Amino acid sequence: MRDRIQEIILAAAAKARAETSDEPEAAFTGTPEFPIECKVGRGLEGAVAAITKVGYVNGQRGWLVYRGIDIFDLAAYSSYEETTYLLLFGGLPTKSQLAEFKQQLVANRELPPYIYEVLRKMPIRETHPMSALRTAVSLLGNFEPKSEDTSVANETRISIQLIAQIPTIVSAIARLRQGKDPLPPNPELGHAANLVRQMLGGEPNELIDRLMDVALILHADHGMNASTFTTMVVNSSLSDMHGSVVAGIASLKGPLHGGANERVLYDLEEIGTVESVEPWFAKARDTKRKVMGFGHRVYKAYDPRARILGPLAELLVEHKPEEARLYRVATKLEQVVCGELGDKQIFPNVDFYAGFAYRAMGVETQMMTPIFAVSRVAGWTARALEYLQDNRIYRPRAAYTGPIHVDYQPIDKR
Ligand code: SDX
Repeated sequence: MRDRIQEIILAAAAKARAETSDEPEAAFTGTPEFPIECKVGRGLEGAVAAITKVGYVNGQRGWLVYRGIDIFDLAAYSSYEETTYLLLFGGLPTKSQLAEFKQQLVANRELPPYIYEVLRKMPIRETHPMSALRTAVSLLGNFEPKSEDTSVANETRISIQLIAQIPTIVSAIARLRQGKDPLPPNPELGHAANLVRQMLGGEPNELIDRLMDVALILHADHGMNASTFTTMVVNSSLSDMHGSVVAGIASLKGPLHGGANERVLYDLEEIGTVESVEPWFAKARDTKRKVMGFGHRVYKAYDPRARILGPLAELLVEHKPEEARLYRVATKLEQVVCGELGDKQIFPNVDFYAGFAYRAMGVETQMMTPIFAVSRVAGWTARALEYLQDNRIYRPRAAYTGPIHVDYQPIDKR
């Protein structure tokens, strides 16, 4: 099964390499010096807010690298643990470094009892799981004795703890929402397989566990996306790593960002059949409704992560007629949207097939964005830690368009 998955990823890589080029964009590579001249659009489009070695998104070409390594190679050959080590520490680990890092993650998976107590007291079925996750991570921070130590060494320790603990929190939320008791982490299982078993229970399943591992690798980092930037902004005031990650979770939740993977599923269910795709899209276009899972601030080419997740999601639906029906709706929607909005360079993004893949694994729809957070905490912390080494508080300006001289009116004269 591992070979079949690898084959699919390598085929997607070959297609991407044939259609695109890895030539870097001059404006976003090289070693610039501040002050950097760049054209800034609304929503900080085009702004260069940091100098980094963590990862690079080539939006014109549809390429993504972590520390210079092609995402297709990482998806085909690496694991989430190895990829996370790469993001955090700058290079691939040796065998002993990887074994030690995995051991550190396993050792930190457990949660203190008060996290379970608070989750049990929450209206867990009515609360969005991202909000529950946000609260739980915040609470963990309240019990961290060294939270005010913002040295790189201490924040690295806390980052590793969070990378290990967030899957356990997410799994507990998933189980409690179904009226089931949380399951303990299994130290024999790797990061992805443990997440799947803690969420879904049951026996290890090679296909699902490896697909989850690939999905976690693909979501681990992605330039200065909204949640990463949010995490970095909070951390730049020398706040604390728990608070910075809480902010990242809050940002990721939104439907214009990580929350889109959940919304894609609602759209596909609303469309229902392949025949309904065209009239549904025509109405969406007329009412200026954004089609979830499409478009990207940076990609003006096909998102390489979607190139991998699309065919992998298809593999998951092979023996599931209901899921296969929705998959056909999804591929038809892709064809129609790309055909109609191709001139705006709109393609599926990572969220389009990710939610679909989790659903086919048996994950509840609202738990999809939390799985994104399980992975992205690696990118949030890697970039916040990198920035911390040469920290300067983020503090941009706004162009004021209000009046400049207004006399103060006493309240009885207004
Ligand atoms: C993620 O930044 C990252 O790296 C994010 C991410 C990561 O890994 O961290 O890749 C993860 O967040 C993926 C994006 C998930 N969101 C969605 O799928 C929601 C739907 N997509 C959009 O709302 C939109 O494309 C954004 C939010 C992703 C990007 O927004 P921008 O850059 O502000 O673009 P825009 O809204 O200004 O749109 C530009 C044009 C507009 O047309 P015009 O007014 O110029 O004629 O493109 C059109 C838009 O109407 N457009 C869409 C569309 N996305 C853009 N039209 C229909 N459906 C869409 N999805």
